[in-house]
Amino acid sequence: MNEDEKMDISTRPVGVFDSGLGGITVLKEMTRLMPGENFIFYGDSANAPYGEKTTQQIRQLSGRIVDYLLGRGAKAIVVACNTATSAAITGIRAAHPEVPVIGIEPAIKPVALAMPHKRILVMATQNTLSLRKYHALIEKYEDQADFTSLACTGLAARIEQGRFEDEDLMELLHSLLDPYAGKVDAVVLGCTHYPFIRRQIRAVLGDIPLYDGGAGTARELRRELEAGGTLNPAALGGRVEFVSSRNTEEELRLYRALYEMPIEA
Ligand code: DGL
Repeated sequence: MNEDEKMDISTRPVGVFDSGLGGITVLKEMTRLMPGENFIFYGDSANAPYGEKTTQQIRQLSGRIVDYLLGRGAKAIVVACNTATSAAITGIRAAHPEVPVIGIEPAIKPVALAMPHKRILVMATQNTLSLRKYHALIEKYEDQADFTSLACTGLAARIEQGRFEDEDLMELLHSLLDPYAGKVDAVVLGCTHYPFIRRQIRAVLGDIPLYDGGAGTARELRRELEAGGTLNPAALGGRVEFVSSRNTEEELRLYRALYEMPIEA
């Protein structure tokens, strides 16, 4: 590839997708780190949640979205969904060796390094926790901290509706998390929807550290783009386009509002 071609590729967008709006938490980290980069964010809200679908269904849905993003000229793909990464990333990489494909996984390694021998609660979808990728990850770090995995069935679907201040969301969180209140030292948010409700999770579990994989995924994307010589050289002014399979103006308004909304650290 000559310098002119690289220049051209660098202005092409990074394609990002999730089962719904959760991936916006990852998108925020990426645009913060690379404000000159262009992004297309695709939320598959019409088919959310992925957490309780079959692996085969997730592979099919993800494959279609990747084809769409590549058709739009994406120079890299970010799977901003722990569930889709676990179920589908190997196949996506095999089908598209021409572009970098970056995934996200629960932040087990960062928490194990930062909080050795502590009690860690891992919140994720049933699918993420049952697939092989997660077992391999836990096996690698299980001697370094005391991990408890909690399948938060229904939580991503509830977050997908927006309205994070409603009482029924707190009720759901209490039913999932009350048994762990005062008994864990940190939490891994192993689903990209969960960082939107950090404050509500702390309201149940106390003021403890919450780890997610968003910032690490953003750094990995930058490394890959740099290595391939396709990082956009612009320091500022990147564009973000939102696309949703639930193609309504109301849904896109929700995506944009969540993208603008500050999230608690
Ligand atoms: N946001 C997705 C994740 O990170 C999954 C939510 C879902 O669709 O169940 O796992």
